[in-house]
Amino acid sequence: MTQDELKRQVAAAAVDHLLAAAPPEGRLLIGVGTGSTVDAFIAALAPWRDRLAGAVSSSERSSERLRAIGVPVLDANEVVALPVYVDGADEIDGRGCMVKGGGAALTREKIVADLAERFVCIADASKRVEVLGRFPLPVEVIPMARARIARRFEALGGRAVLREGVVTDNGGWILDVHGLSITDPPALEREINQWPGVVCNGIFAANRAALCLLGTPAGVQTLAF
Ligand code: A5P
Repeated sequence: MTQDELKRQVAAAAVDHLLAAAPPEGRLLIGVGTGSTVDAFIAALAPWRDRLAGAVSSSERSSERLRAIGVPVLDANEVVALPVYVDGADEIDGRGCMVKGGGAALTREKIVADLAERFVCIADASKRVEVLGRFPLPVEVIPMARARIARRFEALGGRAVLREGVVTDNGGWILDVHGLSITDPPALEREINQWPGVVCNGIFAANRAALCLLGTPAGVQTLAF
């Protein structure tokens, strides 16, 4: 099975999961993340768009795709709470903590995830790791703080590399931090958040997944945390 087939498989499973949890009469308001797995999820949602009241999206890319299938995209500020947020991950550990931001949308992803009661992670099996950090940790920074924050990572044993030519939807820059072994994701997430100039770091521990639908060649595995 190719990676694209695994992504389509988990995308379909996520739609089934949403429909099973939806009230039979009511229409769902959901949070939607960003990435190639989410692209497959949005495509799988198309036949069910009438069951959706709308979506809060974490990127222009996903907003365009949602509108294209006829799902209204709402401003996050108009929404008090979402029952569920569906998004991919670059890595997920055995507690549902994740590294995200490979697509540079981590800040908006964390904002929408924080609005949601439950994070449903959709990923192929290659994303499941024992310890986070093999995938370089994305961190969005204010440009003038780039060097200072890079030095702080060096002191922790990491090597921060500027993602050349990338400016986020919020005008920030992305540092990709190599060489970290993130054994205590909540603690490191909290520490990095305190550094001046950090907009957002790609550790999702406070906003960890409640459920992961993991695409494997043997079928979709459901991990509940
Ligand atoms: C976007 O910024 C990321 O957090 C994505 O959720 C992550 O990179 C997963 O993307 P894929 O579904 O393309 O692997």
